[in-house]
Amino acid sequence: MRRKVIAGNWKMFNDINESQNLISKLISGLNSETLKNEIIICPPFTSLSEAHKLIQNSVIKLGAQNLYFEDSGAFTGEVSARMLKSVGCEYVIIGHSERRTIFKEDDDLINKKIKKALSAGLKPIFCIGETLEERESGVTKNVVEKQLNLGLNSITEDNLERIIIAYEPVWAIGTGKTATPEQAQEVHEFIRSVIESKYSAQAAKVLIIQYGGSVKPDNAAALLSQKDIDGALVGGACLKAESFIQIIMAA
Ligand code: PGA
Repeated sequence: MRRKVIAGNWKMFNDINESQNLISKLISGLNSETLKNEIIICPPFTSLSEAHKLIQNSVIKLGAQNLYFEDSGAFTGEVSARMLKSVGCEYVIIGHSERRTIFKEDDDLINKKIKKALSAGLKPIFCIGETLEERESGVTKNVVEKQLNLGLNSITEDNLERIIIAYEPVWAIGTGKTATPEQAQEVHEFIRSVIESKYSAQAAKVLIIQYGGSVKPDNAAALLSQKDIDGALVGGACLKAESFIQIIMAA
């Protein structure tokens, strides 16, 4: 049985005080029910170090929202994998649709970032997903397959084990529109089949595939009960401890 992995993508929300507050509420709200799942929070860079201290004695794990693929150098505004490791990150989100669209990240850059994260000992949460236009024109599977092939280019099966895939239909992110559990399941199953043909049946079987896009306490259980949905990448609803905990409970 695959474990359920619930990650909160804080995006550009929460200064240091707000981060401290949210984390203490989370820690006090978690109970033995929630322990069966893996819980990750991804605060902004400025709160990572403090978050790491606060989660020390809890089950919560730490992730960042981005990195740059070079080790160091004149790259104003960027943060390296080693820097993220040094503040206690275990995970890093790569290829989020906001990075792809607003910051023009392409599949090649995303592939470089995934490889760097892996070589530095970080676990990538690799995001893929189609736009509304692509869904409506019936090319969802082609888009997702291409993103998988390019993003995972030259990544070995050993390394794949350390990657989480997050399927996030772009039209569902921050819009309040969620894919139905059936729509999401269909794509998750397809992703698993692509991984099976690219790697092996075993690789596909153990792969964690999260769903993301307007996951809320009231739709989490239905999504997370689908056979190929192994967790959630939560944006808006992770900014309130109560709703994030309800989603974790639903898993
Ligand atoms: P949302 O964001 O839950 O607010 O739709 C999800 C994400 O961007 O990862």
